[in-house]
Amino acid sequence: MTHSQGQVCSQPMDETATELRKVLVLNPKGGSGKTTLATNLAAWYALEGLQPALLDLDPQGSSLRWLGKRTGEQPGVHALKGFELPSNVTRSFALRPPPGTHRLIVDTPAGLPREQLREVTRDAGRILIPVLPSDIDIHAVTRCIADLLLVARVPRDSGRIGIVANRVKANTLVYRALMRFLATLEIPVVGVLRDTQNYVRAFEQGCGIHELRGGTQARDVEHWESIVWWVETGEVAALDLG
Ligand SMILES: Nc1ncnc2c1ncn2[C@@H]1O[C@H](COP(=O)(O)OP(=O)(O)OP(=O)(O)O)[C@@H](O)[C@H]1O
Ligand SMILES: [Mg+2]
Repeated sequence: MTHSQGQVCSQPMDETATELRKVLVLNPKGGSGKTTLATNLAAWYALEGLQPALLDLDPQGSSLRWLGKRTGEQPGVHALKGFELPSNVTRSFALRPPPGTHRLIVDTPAGLPREQLREVTRDAGRILIPVLPSDIDIHAVTRCIADLLLVARVPRDSGRIGIVANRVKANTLVYRALMRFLATLEIPVVGVLRDTQNYVRAFEQGCGIHELRGGTQARDVEHWESIVWWVETGEVAALDLG
């Protein structure tokens, strides 16, 4: 797959593609890449011409901070603040994406209580789980997935859960250990993102990695195509860290 605007989203586009779909980014472990995934996905859809809304449920407000850095010239992403809600409106009203939204991307906080899992996963067509290649993170994701299956009752074979191995350094033992472990979970690994400062730069500029100019992100853009492809079609692309 090579990226050109409209390709990844428009290829599988049928009349239902412009219906509202919710994509949840989840991992109760801090720093695993939730905000990185949520912001890059939102930016991707904006450039593809599918109207995204980004709901930030994390009181740290990192996704909203990223949105605040976007200029009026960049394709729009609608902001939804999911914390410190005003008392004069209902929660469901405050969190409702505006009419015309095609993709609702939800960034969740670290330490999300298990009791809230059922609520946040409701109506989520896809649930993306970023995982770092470290022993601590591998252990934490096992629990996260067990909670998804048992507490939120998302069936393992529903095709709704996809794992993204994040901050990966190719040819390292810990990366291989992560991939071996993920293979045992019977949950698809739908993307692999390398460890690169491009993500830090993109965040600072309020853009997605594919919008960075004159950089070294071509490979990263290809890695993103796999993720968007899975979100849109449910098909897992062959992963190549290059
Ligand atoms: N693939 C990557 N390469 C390099 N840096 C990355 C990558 N992914 C994330 N980071 C950096 O790691 C840090 C944590 O990422 P991020 O904020 O996305 O995690 P998070 O899961 O949202 O954290 P929190 O649980 O605190 O909300 C950030 O500084 C981010 O820029
Ligand atoms: Mg975050």
